[in-house]
Amino acid sequence: MKMKLLLFLCSVLWVHAEVLHEDLRITGCSESDGEFMYALDAEEMWYADFKKGEGVLPQPPFIDPIRFPDDIYQHAVNNLDICRSNMNTRRISLKNPPRKLESPSSLMVYSRDDVELEEKNILICHVSGFYPAPVNVSWTKNGQKVTEGTNINNPYPNKDITFTQISRLDFIPQLGDVYSCSVEHQALKEPMTSSFDVDLNVHQPSNGPTVFLAVGLTIGFLGVAVGTFFLVKGNQCI
Ligand SMILES: *[C@@H]1O[C@H](CO)[C@@H](O)[C@H](O)[C@H]1NC(C)=O
Repeated sequence: MKMKLLLFLCSVLWVHAEVLHEDLRITGCSESDGEFMYALDAEEMWYADFKKGEGVLPQPPFIDPIRFPDDIYQHAVNNLDICRSNMNTRRISLKNPPRKLESPSSLMVYSRDDVELEEKNILICHVSGFYPAPVNVSWTKNGQKVTEGTNINNPYPNKDITFTQISRLDFIPQLGDVYSCSVEHQALKEPMTSSFDVDLNVHQPSNGPTVFLAVGLTIGFLGVAVGTFFLVKGNQCI
């Protein structure tokens, strides 16, 4: 029987009294997948890319780097082995418990910045509430599959023992373009899809202040005109 049980050991390592920060180390495994990651306030700081066999520092260069020991990738591999061995021990002792599956409870697609036509932006596909991890996410533009400029982060544990994953797509908004994000998960028979229509999301600059200024000026001029009229009329009466 193929078992896909993900065990996640999460620990709050450090909590500051005034501003609460959450420093998390995540170890997870199944027969086919594994995760080892350090996260600070839900931002990925370091993770092991087990497919490429190396560690990844995903933060941009302007962030003050956090230093990790040189042998950290080896440490991640050892943790993955321990996780798999624990998983097998528990499977045997719990006599192959039934699989618990939760399909994603939410799927949202939105742009990182307000949509301005022809200006580089990022589409974000936020999928949450599923168990076990991971999900597969794919993107389309006007019905055609897109792979360039996409990435997906590591599964992040929620408080209710489900997971969240976020996929991103670089895009340049153009009128008429429709994007979609499709999510595959073991608990879903059909992929779940959500779309993003550029036309419906183009940022409309608010014309409120301009209207108020115009109305204000008009009333002001009217006031001056009426005042002048009465002034002239009043002078004539004398
Ligand atoms: C995700 O994609 C991989 C590789 O194509 C595939 O083996 C796996 O079954 C997919 N997972 C789901 C839940 O569809």
